[in-house]
Amino acid sequence: MKRLLVLTGGGDCPGLNAVIRAIVKRAAQEKDWEVLGSIQAYNGILWEPTEVVRMTPETVRGIHFRGGTIIETTNSGGPFNWPVKNADGTWTTVDRSDEMLRKLQYMGIDAVISIGGDGSQRISQKLYEKGLNIIGVPKTIDNDLSMTECTFGFQTAVQIATEAVDKLVTTAASHNRVFVLEVMGRDAGWIALHSAIAGGAEVCLLPEFPYDINVVKERLEQRFNRDRGFAVVVASEGARPKDGTQVYEISGEVGYENKKLGGIGRRLIEELKAAGFTHGMRETTLGHLQRGGVPIAYDRVLSAEFGVKAFEMVLNRQFGQMVAYQHPNVVAVSLKEAVAQPNFVTIDSDLVRTAQGLDISLGI
Ligand code: F6P
Repeated sequence: MKRLLVLTGGGDCPGLNAVIRAIVKRAAQEKDWEVLGSIQAYNGILWEPTEVVRMTPETVRGIHFRGGTIIETTNSGGPFNWPVKNADGTWTTVDRSDEMLRKLQYMGIDAVISIGGDGSQRISQKLYEKGLNIIGVPKTIDNDLSMTECTFGFQTAVQIATEAVDKLVTTAASHNRVFVLEVMGRDAGWIALHSAIAGGAEVCLLPEFPYDINVVKERLEQRFNRDRGFAVVVASEGARPKDGTQVYEISGEVGYENKKLGGIGRRLIEELKAAGFTHGMRETTLGHLQRGGVPIAYDRVLSAEFGVKAFEMVLNRQFGQMVAYQHPNVVAVSLKEAVAQPNFVTIDSDLVRTAQGLDISLGI
């Protein structure tokens, strides 16, 4: 029997279970492959005792519409940055990648499929350079990975954000208020831009284009005739004013290296007040609601395609590569290229032209 190890890394994302199920079902067709899942990304291998589960078509039955991941995930630590507590209570990190590779060899692992976002795929590339037979599957609600037109989970997050805009429009109109909806996306404005277009927002603020508060204020004032009017602003969590900074905190969680973005909605309201905007304003932060729950049909299909393709790439020994969607095909691209550049919104894109054609202000 040959052994495949599957793991999910980084923030969870709708569609992870659908990818796992597709890998397991496709592998079962080959008869000579056994599939193991490592719990919480590489932790399951690095922990003593090891925590892995055997996955069969029976154990993954019916999980394609379940949110989260049955093998759990983590966005802290990893084989190259394993947190270790010092005697004085502080933490440092150590590189345990060589030890992990030896353990994988001892366990008889022939190939690994790592389902994760940019951070996870950077780890995949480094492990590939150290000789691991690894394949990447791109996952993130942020859609910030290059070389693939879409990551699974993104469209579900857009759907959830759009439904939030729809709901805020009715309460905003009833009260003659401005609502600021803060959505996720880290440094990429894709969720904000898509949901602003789909939901018919008046203003959309993206991390890629720092905004001018006076432009935002003027656009909102146009929506009011004396005190009558309303508007919805979609603000990406990574948005920032011209000559200003993003709103974030440094997490105290051990091994967590990302900025914890959040708070742009509140800050925007304060800036608008300071700029002299007098109408009623409220903010809503959508947060992790964008990541939880069932994947929409589009993401289930994309996840299934990614899972089947990933296993076929194992059969073809296309290691060091990542599954990607390049319409209408699911293809293999180099991991190295996929992680070289993030996928950000550009000012000359059709999507930005569409937003501007709909009179959505980007605050620039
Ligand atoms: O990368 C996915 C994402 O949901 C981002 O949009 C967000 O900034 C971040 O993860 C939140 O991370 P955490 O779950 O660690 O708070």
